[in-house]
Amino acid sequence: MNRRKWLEGAIGLPMLAACSTTARNDFRLPDSFCSTVLPAATADEMRSARVRIVASELRRQLGRGSPTRTGSNPSASGSASGSSSGTGGTVVWTYADAADTEHDSPVIRARQGEILPVLFHNRLPVPTTVHWHGLRLHHSMDGVPQVTQGSVGSSEQFLYRLACRDAGTFWYHPHVASHEQLVRGLGGALIVSEDKPVDVDQDLVWLLKDWLLDADQQIRADYEDTRDMSHAGRIGNHVTLNGQPAQFAEADPQPLSVPAGSRVRLRLINASSARSFVLRFESSQGTRPLIAAFDGFPCPLHHADDDQFVIAAAQRLDLLFDMPAGRLIIRDVRDPRRSFILRELTGIAWPGQQRSRTPIAPLPPNRWLEPDLDRAHSFDVVFEGGARGQLRQARVGNQSLGSDQLLERYNMNWAINGVANREHEVPPFIKVRCNDSVVLRMRNETQWPHPIHLHGFHFKVLRIDGKPPPVTMLRDTFLMEPRSRADIAFVADNPGTWMFHCHILQHQAGGMMAAIQVE
Ligand code: C2O
Ligand code: CU
Repeated sequence: MNRRKWLEGAIGLPMLAACSTTARNDFRLPDSFCSTVLPAATADEMRSARVRIVASELRRQLGRGSPTRTGSNPSASGSASGSSSGTGGTVVWTYADAADTEHDSPVIRARQGEILPVLFHNRLPVPTTVHWHGLRLHHSMDGVPQVTQGSVGSSEQFLYRLACRDAGTFWYHPHVASHEQLVRGLGGALIVSEDKPVDVDQDLVWLLKDWLLDADQQIRADYEDTRDMSHAGRIGNHVTLNGQPAQFAEADPQPLSVPAGSRVRLRLINASSARSFVLRFESSQGTRPLIAAFDGFPCPLHHADDDQFVIAAAQRLDLLFDMPAGRLIIRDVRDPRRSFILRELTGIAWPGQQRSRTPIAPLPPNRWLEPDLDRAHSFDVVFEGGARGQLRQARVGNQSLGSDQLLERYNMNWAINGVANREHEVPPFIKVRCNDSVVLRMRNETQWPHPIHLHGFHFKVLRIDGKPPPVTMLRDTFLMEPRSRADIAFVADNPGTWMFHCHILQHQAGGMMAAIQVE
């Protein structure tokens, strides 16, 4: 299957369960989950789950083409061509549609307002779970081992039932040893479509990911490399877009054709373990995409600062633009000395596709409860540690350790409010009542950026270094720059113990994990 085909699959219609013909579940999804419970699954739901996914190990070609070198690690160039036999390729762990295991990382599609049943089958050699990143669903479905469910053992199944309160761009990934399982390849897009269809001609879903491959094209197994864990995390040397190479020095050998003049919604998902993408769009017609949503949640339409789109690990951006004629190059400029072309689109003449130019409209907002800032419960949250940091002491369980011991005994060197955790069953560092308004005043006292993720809620970014952001931002993952501060607020409208952690997975495993309890 070539890339073109794959992308077409991801355009418009469903890999899985798109706007199904099944009647919509008429269970009403309230604005607050404080006094609702998820009705028990019926045996029928189990048998006839609309979506069935399997996680398994397989070999695939990641290294086709000649990826440019981006790290100090040997990269793949040259060795890939002869290796399409059963023993070639790269051993990866991926999700697949149970009915079509050929194609991995299926896009799961749901509709706003429904509860989507997803039957998950674990065919990996180890236990795992699936976390539905950004979905404000019931706690029991959040996929956190030992907190919301037991982990799903090898060859076991679990029925997830996903309350789709919000339309938008979400994703799913494992939450057991994420710094290994996600890095091995597990992750996919979850798209919840709006109640009323949004007026676009192309709906592109691009799952971006980097891989750290050795000279034999295999995933480097040093998942707990101490340097990665105490610096910027594990940055790969091979970038893919929906599983296909997406890192070209000169030109994309297989540009994607899109009818010129068509209105495009581009959903970008960063499924990397640490890398941020910083994208720039280049066309002779000066196309400037508009940001329409952060982490799935619509925002006022606006241009990016300097027309550079920053997508940190686990974040999503929805962009809207009208396809220009000719070449549209999407370049990653995160490291300007090693910029690369991520993908190229070609705007082709397509009579009949010309549309009358109505202005691009914002996406319809999701329902979100506005926090009451006068009555909010405020908490200080301090991130410390890492290389060139000043972490002197941190607590692990009931011991207090110096940073050297922390590193030697646990390979951790980060802390949230003085506590280092890597597992999930941890004492909550914040407790609030259901429906309380909450403000977190976060301080990054480290020399490193951290995409901070809160499960179960979208929060509003109130202030960044003391100043309100130029546009309203409702996010589930906020990138904190080194030595910066940010205040965020949300209504704790969903009971349970929710994880709060850095989404650089090597930092998460290195201590940046905490939990917030909503009673
Ligand atoms: Cu995207 Cu705790 O996860
Ligand atoms: Cu971090």
